[in-house]
Amino acid sequence: MPRKLEKTEPNLAARLLGWYDRHRRVLPWRAPKGHFADPYRVWLSEIMLQQTTVQAVAGYYRKFLERWPNVAALAAASQDDVLAAWAGLGYYARARNLHAAAKIVANDMGGRFPLTAEELRALPGIGGYTAGAIAAIAYDERQAAMDANAERVIARLYAVETAMPKAKTELHIRGTALVPKRAGDFAQALMDLGSVVCTPKRPACPNCPWTDDCRARQRGIQERLPVKAAKAVRPLKRGAAFVVRDPNNAVLLVKRPDKGLLASMLEPPLGPWTKDFPSTAKALKQAPFLAKWAKRPGLVRHGFTHFELEIEVYLANVARRPKMPGQWVALAKLREVALPTVMRKIVEYALDGPPFQTSSARRR
Ligand code: ADE
Repeated sequence: MPRKLEKTEPNLAARLLGWYDRHRRVLPWRAPKGHFADPYRVWLSEIMLQQTTVQAVAGYYRKFLERWPNVAALAAASQDDVLAAWAGLGYYARARNLHAAAKIVANDMGGRFPLTAEELRALPGIGGYTAGAIAAIAYDERQAAMDANAERVIARLYAVETAMPKAKTELHIRGTALVPKRAGDFAQALMDLGSVVCTPKRPACPNCPWTDDCRARQRGIQERLPVKAAKAVRPLKRGAAFVVRDPNNAVLLVKRPDKGLLASMLEPPLGPWTKDFPSTAKALKQAPFLAKWAKRPGLVRHGFTHFELEIEVYLANVARRPKMPGQWVALAKLREVALPTVMRKIVEYALDGPPFQTSSARRR
């Protein structure tokens, strides 16, 4: 990292903004050109967009706004309703923090969002990147919102060859040095450029407003940047799940503990997750009650951030509901409750899934 940054070409920001004015994406959370967006909407979208794609977020964003059009409405919602509306989007701590932050803003701040990145950062679920993005987009505070797209663009523009995540500090400093008065548009322009033109593979360099400035392109190394950190091998955990169905096509779901992975979300009864699958005899001892449990062939696989999970699935059809804590949910209503994607896959697999099922690359 250079001790002192070289003077940047003064028209860089202006050129990017010119490109943005012509090519900006229309996204549900974006204010029309020349207008500020409502901080509640900016905050909601930025939390949803953490680790999740624009395509996956759009529907959820609309659903949330329709149901909870302002921070007071969200603060008044129950946590179960918020988690249910979030189900399928993944990284559920985001939903719990969102709800906690809404309560703080509504109850302790008179319904007004903090006006600076520094103050925004004090709210649950808002880290450095998100605080910068909200302050830039909602208030034009001169903050660089360096998400993965923006980092890629800046790494290429300055041919930063340090591997991630070590390069982050340098990229942030270089990004910040470029931020103009129109900080919100600049932040979103970087995101758009990274998403549409300066893509990870085969970037469309001829369409880039910075094509003549890009040091990586000058050296023909743009596709190699940013240099990725070596991938950690994720450990594998295995276990058994027990799906029970009553004659009305409802299944039993239980609530997970209110701390830790998938906290407060629903799941079918599950055995412990260990290095190996339990034998069928052992699994039947883990089952929540005695029944005619039938093991489905194959397994359900799901990738979490820090480990891979493989689950063997046992199904029991019962004539009467056993007396058990938990809630019975009709199959048609599975998408209306706080059931994470991995747990929905297990239930669907028990009932009619294909013989082998894997998760998508994204973790939900
Ligand atoms: N990714 C994170 N924040 C975003 C935004 N405001 N627009 C598009 N993509 C984003």
